Amino acid sequence: MKIAILGTGMVGHALGTKLVAIGHQVLMGSRTASSEAGQEWLRSVQGQARIGTFADAAAFGEIVLDCTNGANSLAALRLAGAAHLNGKILIQISNPLDFPKGCRPR
Ligand SMILES: NC(=O)c1ccc[n+]([C@@H]2O[C@H](COP(=O)([O-])OP(=O)(O)OC[C@H]3O[C@@H](n4cnc5c(N)ncnc54)[C@H](OP(=O)(O)O)[C@@H]3O)[C@@H](O)[C@H]2O)c1
Repeated sequence: MKIAILGTGMVGHALGTKLVAIGHQVLMGSRTASSEAGQEWLRSVQGQARIGTFADAAAFGEIVLDCTNGANSLAALRLAGAAHLNGKILIQISNPLDFPKGCRPR
């Protein structure tokens, strides 16, 4: 299955690595097409996946996993593009935590 990972943090890395290992096609998205964190992950999976922008990932995936920073997930989803997300399963993994207030939801 084609799976989009929005987010290059440790959550995106962990889920992306497992999904590649069990045979899925994964495209990890970021604000930039060749982010350092995305390239690092791509090397860790021996190039057996793709990286790109949030929009590239959302266009590619049949299922989209949102693993972005929760305070900025709406901005990331806007960059992904409504047209690319329309009709797809979107699994929201992010939490809008407010760290200055002790990790409570915003
Ligand atoms: N549900 C659970 O069990 C669980 C467990 C742990 C964590 N979480 C949540 O999972 C999420 C990911 O955590 P993480 O530590 O892996 O990553 P993170 O550091 O919270 O987020 C990294 C991603 O957020 C994007 N981002 C940051 N600022 C942005 C902005 N202004 N606009 C658009 N995108 C922005 C980054 O884009 P770039 O790639 O361009 O830098 C990057 O891809 C968090 O919300 C966390 O709370 C959930």
